[in-house]
Amino acid sequence: MLPKTNIIHLPVYQPGKPVEDVKRELGLSEVIKLASNENPYGFSNNAKSAMIEEMSNCNIYPDGASVELTAAIADKLNVSTDALIFGTGSSDIILMTARAFLVPGDETIMADETFSQYKHNAEIENATIVEVPLKDGKHDLPAMLSKVSDKTKIVWICNPNNPTGTIVTHHELSSFMKSVPAHVLVVLDEAYGEFVYDADYSDGVSMLKDYTNLLVLRTFSKIYGLAALRIGYGIGHPDVVRFINQVREPFNTTRLAQTAAKASLADDAFITYCREKNVEGIRYLSEQFDRLGLTYFPANGNFVMVDVKRPSPEIFQALLHRGIIIRSRWTHYPNHIRVSIGTLEQNKQFIVALEQVLQEVTV
Ligand SMILES: Cc1ncc(COP(=O)(O)O)c(C=O)c1O
Repeated sequence: MLPKTNIIHLPVYQPGKPVEDVKRELGLSEVIKLASNENPYGFSNNAKSAMIEEMSNCNIYPDGASVELTAAIADKLNVSTDALIFGTGSSDIILMTARAFLVPGDETIMADETFSQYKHNAEIENATIVEVPLKDGKHDLPAMLSKVSDKTKIVWICNPNNPTGTIVTHHELSSFMKSVPAHVLVVLDEAYGEFVYDADYSDGVSMLKDYTNLLVLRTFSKIYGLAALRIGYGIGHPDVVRFINQVREPFNTTRLAQTAAKASLADDAFITYCREKNVEGIRYLSEQFDRLGLTYFPANGNFVMVDVKRPSPEIFQALLHRGIIIRSRWTHYPNHIRVSIGTLEQNKQFIVALEQVLQEVTV
């Protein structure tokens, strides 16, 4: 018995190591996870109360079309309700988009390095992967454009990019959109968009009126702090959204997730608080990296990628033994680690540990 040949080589997704595993394996009582770009400030109290109330309805299937949440987001973003699709996290929208659009032999273009799930899902569909190296940690949009052919179906752009944290500017993105042929779907993943302060960034939703071949992805897992509930969404032309809807599982988002997401949308104060704390955290870590003589990519999301000038797996292990979980191991960045922005206390503990580890692991 064999599966499809094109999935045999695929790895199982390796998430950031869970805190419980590290505590057990290393006999540590205190462990800080700065590995999955989660929100260290929790989530909105509005969401908590709404979920408690909704719990009594758990015997009833959710609304497959997420009608109330759709209306709330359509209102907030000023888009039509048929421009929205929800998923079990934005990962599910990536999966469904690949499933709806890619057949074997289609080409799909993405950066190298970027979020792993674009490639993973395209490989499952047996599409031909065209990877374009980052330039100074940034998407090289002109180079990506030069790879577009008659066979290209999807171009993936992660803005800010995971793992580097860099952004493409509004100007760069709009030049790209103007030049890319209309038969190519551009998926713009804005999982970390709400954290960005740079004035040159503008979100993709403002471009949707000009381009029918643009699909913007958002998530409630990051700034909204609802990672465990698994809810994200796509915004695009109603025809694109309908195709994706055709491959969607009937009840792919839960009652609790829909309820919590809708309640979170009404709590702007929580989002503002998280944005401000995050930028303070970026400022603190940047100052500390400068002090330690380490270079890093400009951070625009809730994480920083820093060059530790030593093999990153060794730094990962040494930090792990001090109870700090980060991410490492990128093919093109063997000496970089990615650390999520934690609370000020967590950031300080990370820096204390990093400083010790840098002395322990020689260059
Ligand atoms: C760039 C990017 N896109 C999408 C996701 C998926 O997030 P979720 O499925 O939790 O919405 C992540 C998760 O880390 C991410 O980094």
